[in-house]
Amino acid sequence: MSVTPFKNTRFVSCLALLAATACAPKEADTQETMTAEAAPPITGKTPAPVGPVEKDPFTYANYDEARVTNLALDINVLFAEKTIDGTATLTFERVKPDASRLVLDTNDLEIRKVEAKSGAAWTPVKFSIGPDDPNLGSPLEIEIPAPANEVRISYRTSPAAEGLQWLNAKQTAGGAHPFMYSQNQAINARSMAPVQDTPAVRMTYTAKVRTPRNLLAVMSAAQDEGPRDGDYEFSMPQPVPAYLLAIAVGDLDFRAVSETIGVYAEPSIVEAAAKEFEDTPQMEQAASALYGPYRWGRYDLLVLPPSFPFGGMENPRLSFMTPTLLAGDKSLVGTVAHELAHSWSGNLVTNATWSDAWLNEGVTSYVENRLMEAVFGEERAQMEQAIAFGDLQRELAGLEDTSLSRLQLPSDIAHPDDAFSDVAYVKGQFFLHFLETRYGRTAFDAFLKSWFDSRAFKASTTADFRDHLMKTLVAQNPGAASASEIDEWLYGEGLPSTIAAPQPSAFEAVEREQSAWMNGEMAAKAITADGWTTQQWLHFINTLPANAGSGRLRDLDSFFDLSHSANAEIAFAWYRRAIAEGYAPALPAIEQFLKRVGRGKFIYPLYEDLVAHDERDLAERAYAKAKPLYHPIAQRRVEEILQPTN
Ligand code: BES
Ligand code: ZN
Repeated sequence: MSVTPFKNTRFVSCLALLAATACAPKEADTQETMTAEAAPPITGKTPAPVGPVEKDPFTYANYDEARVTNLALDINVLFAEKTIDGTATLTFERVKPDASRLVLDTNDLEIRKVEAKSGAAWTPVKFSIGPDDPNLGSPLEIEIPAPANEVRISYRTSPAAEGLQWLNAKQTAGGAHPFMYSQNQAINARSMAPVQDTPAVRMTYTAKVRTPRNLLAVMSAAQDEGPRDGDYEFSMPQPVPAYLLAIAVGDLDFRAVSETIGVYAEPSIVEAAAKEFEDTPQMEQAASALYGPYRWGRYDLLVLPPSFPFGGMENPRLSFMTPTLLAGDKSLVGTVAHELAHSWSGNLVTNATWSDAWLNEGVTSYVENRLMEAVFGEERAQMEQAIAFGDLQRELAGLEDTSLSRLQLPSDIAHPDDAFSDVAYVKGQFFLHFLETRYGRTAFDAFLKSWFDSRAFKASTTADFRDHLMKTLVAQNPGAASASEIDEWLYGEGLPSTIAAPQPSAFEAVEREQSAWMNGEMAAKAITADGWTTQQWLHFINTLPANAGSGRLRDLDSFFDLSHSANAEIAFAWYRRAIAEGYAPALPAIEQFLKRVGRGKFIYPLYEDLVAHDERDLAERAYAKAKPLYHPIAQRRVEEILQPTN
């Protein structure tokens, strides 16, 4: 299922500024990631592509001069102080042979000492920390003496680091041990370690991690086989961008699902999680058959406490997952397919800047749907497409700044988070469905595989994708799709004229019963919902007419107890309707939900709805209790929503 982890709030239109400096393409400055091929002319109302891609605007790193290639962490995880304390040793190469400084990103880091290696000895070198920007943090500029290609930085993180959440024992499922985890996408790696925090730079990494003796550390890397003793070693031989660096420490148990796939979770939920996710090996087989081998060694899943702010996070070798997926019936495992799919789209072939986020999320949402089709059948896949399509339509209808509806976003978005809307996910997904329809599955699958193969371990732009498409699929099948149709998708606003709305037959029965019930021809108890899937329920709830009225909601609730649904997606969809209709009996359940779950996709819209429908008191009461549970990212977002507007 494709959904948006964020709602855009900060976007500033770039269109009016296209000629001005803020958006003017700068000199192309690195390797393969920063050039745009001459494109065929663009016709119709499609705006021009944004142009040659400039340096990632969300990093201070001077990766056009000196580029980090390896990170070696040696760190202590200190729960009492809520800090990570240790050293980061960075190996770098000089892109410009005379480079005399290495600039890294930091956010809230205390830097104690920086040394460079000359010969076998480490000698202190000069460094300076620039001014703090609320979004970007501060640059750490290090003088690099001529032959040195390694620096060692002694540092510690802040207890308020935006990328780390420190939970006390009471905030975990087991209640007996504390828990810590990172969430580095999009630009929070810099609050965990000094790095070049841009998707355009990839590095291998190793880590030595010390924790309390009774806790287990896991990372997005290969793990040593040693005992659980508070002393762990990791190594990541494939180069990854900093946003894929990840760590978690807690009372974690493990269940194997297959030889190469398993689940980490707190002991009380690990069994249920392994059962819920038991089809992951079939998903991986389907993906490998379509797009080539899985290239990362093991694939494990880590189920986090309910405060995890996302549905899932594609940390390589170890995806992080919300426990709200544990519905008991595998109805929400689309998110597993999604994070696994990122092993090709995103982790292997990475967006060069966050303005190209659709290359990560849109391509992944398409692959996710193909995996769901392969493992759970066409009907399920079609229903999930249709739900995503409805989400996209609703999001576009509420969009004030229409330039936000473009796949390739202008480079002056205010924050990378603004790139992760349903436009990136669902419009991106439907673009690939369009190509699949025009070229046929066989040719399209071969094209997508060749995209992954040719761009593996590289950062790519929208222009790179277009170029590859034109030189392969389009050139080999003249006439199947025109350049202007393709460019309408890539650079146009809103929904392209060639989009095809999915119409799953499984939704027809739902629609028939919904209208019979709305018209009073059918009683709520006669609705055949017992046999409905989660997706059918979601369709029923999402498409209830705006004037359904709280009486009708009460009627439904009395038979189906939707206010207490154990399925987080159904509960969420129902709560939105309940708030919109002023259906008061659901409010206590909503308050409980907000105090229990910290997943942004659910809580941001619910807080927004409550504020918009005269329930600010409830929202503030819930947040006052829930705040310590929420991740720093979620705290920031909810506080923005609850800010008095005046
Ligand atoms: N990479 C995203 C999560 C993310 C996006 C984290 C932007 C930080 C910044 C992940 O793959 C994702 O898309 N998760 C979705 C689930 C998916 C099924 C749409 C989510 O969290 O809801
Ligand atoms: Zn994703």
